[in-house]
Amino acid sequence: MKGVILAGGTGSRLYPLTKVTNKHLLPVYNKPMIYYPIETLTKAGITDIIIVTGKEHAGNFLSLLGSGKEFGANFHYALQDEAGGIAQALALSEAFVNNDNITVILGDNIILDDISESIKSFTIGAKIFLKEVSDPQRFGVPEFDSNNKIIKIEEKPKVPKSKYAVTGLYQYDSTVFDKIHKLKPSQRGELEITDVNNLYLQDGKLVHAFLNKPWLDAGTFDSLITASNIIKELLNR
Ligand code: DAU
Repeated sequence: MKGVILAGGTGSRLYPLTKVTNKHLLPVYNKPMIYYPIETLTKAGITDIIIVTGKEHAGNFLSLLGSGKEFGANFHYALQDEAGGIAQALALSEAFVNNDNITVILGDNIILDDISESIKSFTIGAKIFLKEVSDPQRFGVPEFDSNNKIIKIEEKPKVPKSKYAVTGLYQYDSTVFDKIHKLKPSQRGELEITDVNNLYLQDGKLVHAFLNKPWLDAGTFDSLITASNIIKELLNR
């Protein structure tokens, strides 16, 4: 199992904080944001990790993270020329992944659950991780049938069909890349990870689990400060 951290994108929702630096290098309480997804992977035993970044601040990622030695890991890097979407960023890891299974984390997601068991048990298909939220319209949202099976995932629906968010933690087998190559850009011009998940769903190969610990997406002003406050509180306990 290899790890993929997606830290491209424009960070436009955090402008001007992101005018001269990258969103994933901003502090979340006492660490740069990107430390959190790295630690979620390394704590679960994944040490071969690729970090996909945008061009503008790629040098800063190298200066901060280096070879990965400090984290007990091997870091590889890929560059996303333009913010063409999460699935497009993921496609840039294909050569590195080389038919292995992958655990993917979005660089602005803070996942505090221990994911070791999910990593050990994953073999084929795709697995997504859900969390109940008060504002599902900001996220990918699953729709369930009466047997609690997911029948569809909608990206940022105006009228969400459930109160769950699809978090930025995903596990895929290597068929993910064939699926990405078939995608067409969405209305906002991006290759959407939700479309990838729906393709697995159509094949009957998407399973889901729920996160138990707090989950934070630090990509907006409010969620960034909430994330810092929650981490501070957890550390002070
Ligand atoms: O946080 C979970 C949500 O993340 C999911 O519920 C949504 O289904 C998923 O689409 C995503 O939504 P966001 O609107 O929060 O995605 P955002 O554009 O903020 O991108 C999240 C991370 O993905 C970002 O920190 C870096 C990476 N990314 C994003 C884009 C658009 C890239 O590496 N390249 C990109 O082109």
